[in-house]
Amino acid sequence: EQINKGKYEHYMQKEIHEQPESLTTTMRGRLIRGGSCKAKSVLLGGLKDHLRTIRRSRRIVFIGCGTSYNAALAARPILEELSGIIVIMEIASDLVDRQGPIYREDTTVFVSQSGETADTLQALEYALENGALCVGITNTVGSAIARHTHCRIHINAGCEIGVASTKAYTSQIVVMAMLALAIGDDTISSQGRREAIIDGLFDLPNKVKEVLKLDEEMKDLAKLLIAEQSLLVFGRGYNYATALEGALKVKEVSLMHSEGILAGEMKHGPLALVDETLPIVVIATRDACFSKQQSVIQQLHARKGRLIVMCSKGDAASVSVGGSCRTVEVPVVEDCLQPVINIVPLQLLAYHLTVLRGYNVDQPRNLAKSVTTQ
Ligand code: G6P
Repeated sequence: EQINKGKYEHYMQKEIHEQPESLTTTMRGRLIRGGSCKAKSVLLGGLKDHLRTIRRSRRIVFIGCGTSYNAALAARPILEELSGIIVIMEIASDLVDRQGPIYREDTTVFVSQSGETADTLQALEYALENGALCVGITNTVGSAIARHTHCRIHINAGCEIGVASTKAYTSQIVVMAMLALAIGDDTISSQGRREAIIDGLFDLPNKVKEVLKLDEEMKDLAKLLIAEQSLLVFGRGYNYATALEGALKVKEVSLMHSEGILAGEMKHGPLALVDETLPIVVIATRDACFSKQQSVIQQLHARKGRLIVMCSKGDAASVSVGGSCRTVEVPVVEDCLQPVINIVPLQLLAYHLTVLRGYNVDQPRNLAKSVTTQ
């Protein structure tokens, strides 16, 4: 496998820019285009003997750490919608600390880029002891999580070297969206929705190419933010995870304090932080939560918040409160796939902030790519 930096200066930069290709590889052979007598569908070979059990589970419990946890959170709404099953999210260490309830009737899904994270592995042992069906979603064939789970889906994103995960995140979301499609495959009422998502998946690499064109714009934004102490990121719905993951990227590599905030919680604390100095990214792309996010923007603006609004292409005028906020316009995709698009400008921002601040972007201090000890 080609793991040199090619024309790029850093692995993180290369991995951000190769997402159109890594996503294509993730989906290769797994999407069925459909035809006159065949419906559009997905094929996840690794699950074929277990899908019926998964469909009959009492709950689906997603377990991971860091970026892998955030990817599962991004896919949660579509998993709930298409499966009709209760979907629970667990941070691996917290599940183990609490010895939280896991039952024989549960499907547990272990999400891990490396497949070797100690906390996730310990949670896997725990789920195996409790008799749950264990599914692995990893980027590493032959890893411990791939070996010890009952069945698995490889994300096939290619080797990721940068400590901050980028292309694995988007591939994980796509795999979990495909998992949602596969689980819901026998539900006639959602067929139209599923077909729209499959069409959206086919077109996703092109849309990622388009959003990568924001590179220079995000570098300019990084120049503006270079000396800031802190950056907040507000999201909700499909993009709550984008807020968490965007903030995680910024803090991991640029060493700037950053918090992802669920916009619905704004009035329960975060609003006290807002003034004319603190920069705030608000994710307000078109989906069922759009009007709520418009109201969040109004409220932050009324408190003189320094806003950078991420919006759908063509929406800049309607979200910028009379042109007073900076905007970042992104291409529109099917709502459940929008997190794949929306994270890209934030990955680029984190990358440029780090380089401009003079820190090591591929090997941030104190962090490891794979945390194999507890
Ligand atoms: C470390 C890495 C993160 C990663 C997390 C989970 O903290 O620095 O980038 O998201 O581990 O890793 P995994 O390999 O399980 O996805």
